[in-house]
Amino acid sequence: MVSIAQRLMAAPVFSQVYERAWRPLFTRGFSLGGSGTADYDRALRARLAQPGDRHVLDIACGPGNYSGDASKGLTGDGRYVGVDFSASMLAQAARDNRGSRVTYVRGDAHKLPFPDDSFDTVLCLAALYLIPDPLPVLDEMMRVCAPGGEVIVFTSVEASIAALPGARQVAGLSGLRIFGRDELLMRFSRLGAVHLEQTITGVGQYIHAHKASEPPHA
Ligand SMILES: C[S@@+](CC[C@H](N)C(=O)[O-])C[C@H]1O[C@@H](n2cnc3c(N)ncnc32)[C@H](O)[C@@H]1O
Repeated sequence: MVSIAQRLMAAPVFSQVYERAWRPLFTRGFSLGGSGTADYDRALRARLAQPGDRHVLDIACGPGNYSGDASKGLTGDGRYVGVDFSASMLAQAARDNRGSRVTYVRGDAHKLPFPDDSFDTVLCLAALYLIPDPLPVLDEMMRVCAPGGEVIVFTSVEASIAALPGARQVAGLSGLRIFGRDELLMRFSRLGAVHLEQTITGVGQYIHAHKASEPPHA
C-alpha cells in the first residue's frame, strides 16, 4: 500500500514547496522545536562543501537541496550524483539545483544503478523513514561506498516523545517510520562499518560511518 508520505513525495506541487518551505519546517520538528537538527545540518553542509576530488552520491536527493553545498568544493574529477525515484522531484532538481559537476538519475534506493566501491561520500538524508523496507538501503549504501569512504544518514529515532503510547501508530499511519536507537547502528556494524558515530537531535538522528579500508576478515 502506498502511504500518505509516499504520495506526497510524488506530487509535483510538493516538490515545488519542498526545499524552501517544507524541509526547514520538518527539520525544526525533528529537534522538537529546538535548533539541534538545524545546527547539525549547517555543520554537515559546511563539511560537504570542503574542497576535494570526491565522488558524492545523494540517495533520495529530492529536489537536490544538498547539491549546491556538496558540489561547491569539488575539484579534479569530483562529481555529485543525486538519485531519486520521483520524477517530479528530479524535474525540480534539474530546474533549481543544476551544476556542471551535478547529475540526477532516476532510480530506487534498494537497487542502486552503480558499481560496488564507486563513491567516497554516500548520503541518505531525510528519506529512510519514508521507505517501507529501509534496512537493505543501508546495505546498498555500504556496497557503493569506496573502501575508506563515508556514509551519512539523517533519519528519525525513538526518543521519549516518540515512545509515548500511540506515537508509533500515528507515525505509521502517515507512512513515517521511527527507528529504534540501535537499529541502524547494528545494521551498519554488521556490514563492517567502522568509526560509527550517532548524534541524536530530538526525534532525529545523524549517523556517520566509514567503510573499512581493508575488507573485514571472514
Ligand atoms: C523528504 S525527501 C528528502 C530530500 C532530501 N534528501 C532532503 O534531505 O531534504 C525524500 C525523498 O525520498 C525519495 N524516495 C523515497 N523512497 C525512495 C526510494 N525507494 N528510492 C529512491 N528515492 C526514494 C522521495 O521521492 C523523496 O524525494
